[in-house]
Amino acid sequence: MTTTETAAPDVQALILVGGKGTRLRPLTLSAPKPMLPTAGVPFLTHLISRIRDAGITDIVLGTSFKAEVFNEHYGDGSDLGVTLTYVTEEEALGTGGGIRNVYDSLVADTVLVFNGDVLGGTDIREVLDTHRDSGAEVTLHLVRVGDPRAFGCVPTDDDGRVTAFLEKTQDPPTNQINAGTYVFNRDVIAEIPAGRAVSVEREVFPKLLAEGRHLQGHVDSAYWRDMGTPEDFVRGSADLVRGIAPSPALAGAKGESLVKAGAHVAAGAVLIGGTVVGADAMIGPTARLDGAVIFDGAIVEAGAVIERSIIGFGARIGRGALIRDTVVGDGAHVGARCELLRGARVWPGVQLPENGIRFSTDV
Ligand code: GTP
Repeated sequence: MTTTETAAPDVQALILVGGKGTRLRPLTLSAPKPMLPTAGVPFLTHLISRIRDAGITDIVLGTSFKAEVFNEHYGDGSDLGVTLTYVTEEEALGTGGGIRNVYDSLVADTVLVFNGDVLGGTDIREVLDTHRDSGAEVTLHLVRVGDPRAFGCVPTDDDGRVTAFLEKTQDPPTNQINAGTYVFNRDVIAEIPAGRAVSVEREVFPKLLAEGRHLQGHVDSAYWRDMGTPEDFVRGSADLVRGIAPSPALAGAKGESLVKAGAHVAAGAVLIGGTVVGADAMIGPTARLDGAVIFDGAIVEAGAVIERSIIGFGARIGRGALIRDTVVGDGAHVGARCELLRGARVWPGVQLPENGIRFSTDV
């Protein structure tokens, strides 16, 4: 560690990136979720760039699962104009334990905590302003969603103070959900039990509330998506490509598709719906890709149709195959005219023969 002469920052950010990302398997068997390519760059690059553009350059990454991958890619963070510190949990400590585990690395009195898989458009400075103006000990970003039943609901009173934490309920009293971004006074982090797994949502926040502590909500309706499932990952990636989701890491024109350098797209192939084609990938003639996420080095042969699906690194999709709402793992080969639909997941390296899986009988 080097010492610096500069004053301690007012605000530091902590990004929690230590989860196993089970819902995105098999892609997360080889890469941690925040490092999966999203609109052409690791997802985490979008988040780090947003934090940097809000004027916060001192960022701690709370790692655990595949911790080394982050350091190998980002190093000290200078390429992105930030200073990165890594704090690793030998055994995953959960979201609350992950926050507690970085306590010794914190020098700022105010700590912005992010789940490392949230794609958002919220003005981060406004969340900090709410925290300062309300005098709260913790402020939570709450976002209004159409259907809150799948999320943790967080009602607030007329002053914006949090009144309850309701885990996934069928009859939510509010459409405000926990958006996975928090502002903590550093002292509160010291109160989280150390050395064991703790959930910030299920344990830390309910306990603070039961003690009558001041938790404030910052409510808005900005773009927000938790990228934890294949459906959300595909949607979020497409929204980035089309400019529906903002990201300072994506310069230039937004359109129906994004093709990375070194990729080859044959004449007559159709790329729509926010499709991304990774570096060195090859798309054959008359292939039709709608909302597809094609990782680097993958091959899509002539006439294949890929809709709302993720095709892993170096995977191959055979001629005339139909791939819809599916995840194909790294290096897998899907034979010609196979049909994979509705949540299918092909494990890495698996080889499906020509016509090997079909939903129709017209072979
Ligand atoms: P699933 O297994 O699919 O639920 O994904 P996940 O492991 O990422 O869990 P979840 O989506 O609930 O995690 C929210 C955020 O917290 C993600 O950015 C995770 O990387 C992070 N996270 C989850 N558990 C831990 C942990 O034990 N330690 C650290 N440091 N981060 C965690």
